[in-house]
Amino acid sequence: MSPYRTHLCGELREVHVGQSVLLAGWVHRVRDMGGVVFVDLRDRTGIVQVVFREERVPDLMDAAAKLRAESVVQVRGQVALRPLDTVNPKIPTGTVEVVAEALEVLNPAEPVPFSIADEADVHDTTRLRYRYLDLRRPAMFRNLELRHRVVWAARQYLHEQGFLEVETPILTKSTPEGARDFLVPSRLQPGKFYALPQSPQLFKQVLMVAGFDRYFQIARCFRDEDLRADRQPEFTQVDIEMSFVTEDDVMTLTEGLVRRMWQEAGYDIPVPFPRMDYDEAIERYGSDKPDTRFGYCLTTVTDLFVDTEFRIFREAARTEGHVVTALAIPGGAAWPRNRLDHLTERAKQLGGRGLVWVRWPAGEAPQSPVAKFLRPTELAALRERLGLADGGLALLMAGPREATCSVLGVIRLELARQEGWVPNDAGWHFLWVINFPLLEWSDEEGRWVARHHPFTSPQPETLEWLSSRPERVRARAYDLVVNGVEIGGGSIRNYRRPDQERVFEILQIPPEEYRSKFGFLLEALSYGAPPHGGIALGLDRIVMLLAGAPSIRDVIAFPKTSSGQCLMTGSPSEVTERQLRELHLRVDV
Ligand code: AMO
Repeated sequence: MSPYRTHLCGELREVHVGQSVLLAGWVHRVRDMGGVVFVDLRDRTGIVQVVFREERVPDLMDAAAKLRAESVVQVRGQVALRPLDTVNPKIPTGTVEVVAEALEVLNPAEPVPFSIADEADVHDTTRLRYRYLDLRRPAMFRNLELRHRVVWAARQYLHEQGFLEVETPILTKSTPEGARDFLVPSRLQPGKFYALPQSPQLFKQVLMVAGFDRYFQIARCFRDEDLRADRQPEFTQVDIEMSFVTEDDVMTLTEGLVRRMWQEAGYDIPVPFPRMDYDEAIERYGSDKPDTRFGYCLTTVTDLFVDTEFRIFREAARTEGHVVTALAIPGGAAWPRNRLDHLTERAKQLGGRGLVWVRWPAGEAPQSPVAKFLRPTELAALRERLGLADGGLALLMAGPREATCSVLGVIRLELARQEGWVPNDAGWHFLWVINFPLLEWSDEEGRWVARHHPFTSPQPETLEWLSSRPERVRARAYDLVVNGVEIGGGSIRNYRRPDQERVFEILQIPPEEYRSKFGFLLEALSYGAPPHGGIALGLDRIVMLLAGAPSIRDVIAFPKTSSGQCLMTGSPSEVTERQLRELHLRVDV
C-alpha cells in the first residue's frame, strides 16, 4: 500500500462513511469560517472537502487556515456524511466530507500566478508559461484524458483489423507535404542536414513494398508553416497504409476507425459518410472542407449574365473558368446599409474583386448599387434562381471560379457565426471530398505543383487533359471533413516506377532532382511494389472537436505559440559557440 494515500480524493462516496482514510493531493481552496476550516483537496480524480474543527484538532487549525493554494499536502481523517444543508450536488463527492485528524504539508507552493480553482480566463501566454499549472485545471486534464482514450481506441481498432504499428525515423530526409522542412545539422557529416518528417509518407510506402500489407502509426509530424488555431509545427497523425486496395477499401476502413474514435467520446455516428465531388464543394460551399451543418449554399448564376450590361458580370460569364456566384439570405433586405458596405470591404480584404448586393424589400423595387446596369428581367431571373421571397438579399461575386467561390465561402462562414446559422444541436456532419485536382498552379514556383503530394496517383481517364487543361486532371485522393474541419486526407499511390516518374515529369521536377530526393522510393517501386494507398487522420484536430475545444493547443500537453515558441522551456533558444563549431555552423543574424 502506498505510504502516501489509501484512497483517491474523487472516489469517496457514502459507502466510505466511517472509514479512516489517508489522502494526498493539492490544496484547491481554503475557507476559514472561524472555528471550522474547509480545505478542498484535489487530485486527478476530483475534489473532496476536508473539514478541520477546532474541537477535534485545535493544534491544526492555524496550519490549515494558512495553507496556500496548490501546496501538496497529506491528510488523515474520517469520512463523514455532510449535514443535509451543506451537500454540494455539483461534485460527485458532494454528500461526504473528511473530518481531519492529521495534516502534513509535503511541499508548500509559492503564490500561484493564476488560480486553478476559479475557472477564470487566463491569458494564453501565462497558461503556456506555467503549463504544469494550466494542466492542473480539470478541463485541461479531461481533454488529455480524452486524447488518451481516443488514441487507445484507434490502436485497438487497427490492431483488430490486422494492422501493424511500426515506428519510422524522425531524423530523415525531406518528405514534401507542402510545408517547409525543419532541418537538423549533422555533426558526423559536416555540411549535411537531416529533415524532420512532414509525415511518414515515404516510409509507409516502403513498408508496403516490404510486404507489411497493413501499417499504422501514431506519428509525430513536423511542418514549418504559419500557425493557426488548428495548426501546430509538430502535430500527430493516425497514419495508415494498406496494400492491394482501392479508394473504397481505405475509406471504409477509415469510417470504421472514426466511428470507434467517436464512440470512445460517447457519440454514435452513422457510416458510411456521404461523398462530395471537389467541384461541388467549391461551387456550393466555396471550400474544399465544406461545413455542411447548415444550408446557405452558394449558387452559380453565371448563365444569367451572359448578355448583361453590367460589364464585370458579363466578362465573367464569357470567360472560361470564371463564374458569377451568389449567396442568398432570406430576410437580409433588412440589414443596414453599413453592414453591406462592410461585407463589400471584407470581400476585397479576402482578395475578391468586389461584392455586389441586391435586395428585394417587400413591396418595393429591387435595390442594388449597380441596379441601373441590371435589367428587371435579369433581377427577376436571379431572384427566382435563388428562390428568394420578399425581404431577401443576395450577395454576388464574379471572377475566377475557385478564388471567387472561396471568398464568398469565407463570408458564408463568417455570417454563419454572426447570425447563428449553425444549429446548436447540429451534431456531426461528416463527408468525404473526392475527385480532387491532381495539380494546382503555384505562382511562387511558376509551375504546376501536386495538390496533395507527388506520390498520389492520377485518375488515368483524366490524363488526356494533361497538356491542354492540367487543372482538369483528377487525383485518386480523398479528404475527410467534419463540421467544416479537414480531419484527414489520403490517396491511392503510384506503385509502378514509370507511373511515379511520369508524375515527377508532370510536376516538372528534373530527373536529377527527383532521383536525388526520391531515388530510394523509385528503386523500391522497381523491386515488386504492390498497389497501395492510405490516409492520415489529424489526431489533434479530432480530439479538439471531440473535446469541444477552441484550439488544438488545448488538447496538446506542451504546444507552441503562434510564433513557434515553447514558453515553458523557452525553446527555440541560442546555443553555445562550441555547439555551433561542432556542427560546422555559423549564425548570421
Ligand atoms: P495531410 O497533409 O493531408 O496528409 O495531413 C493529414 C491530416 O493531418 C492534419 N494536419 C495537421 N494538424 C495539425 N497541425 C498541422 N500543421 C497539420 N497539418 C496537417 C490534418 C490533415 O487532414 N502523408 C499524407 C497522408 C496520406 O496521403 O496518406 C498527409 O500527411 O487533419
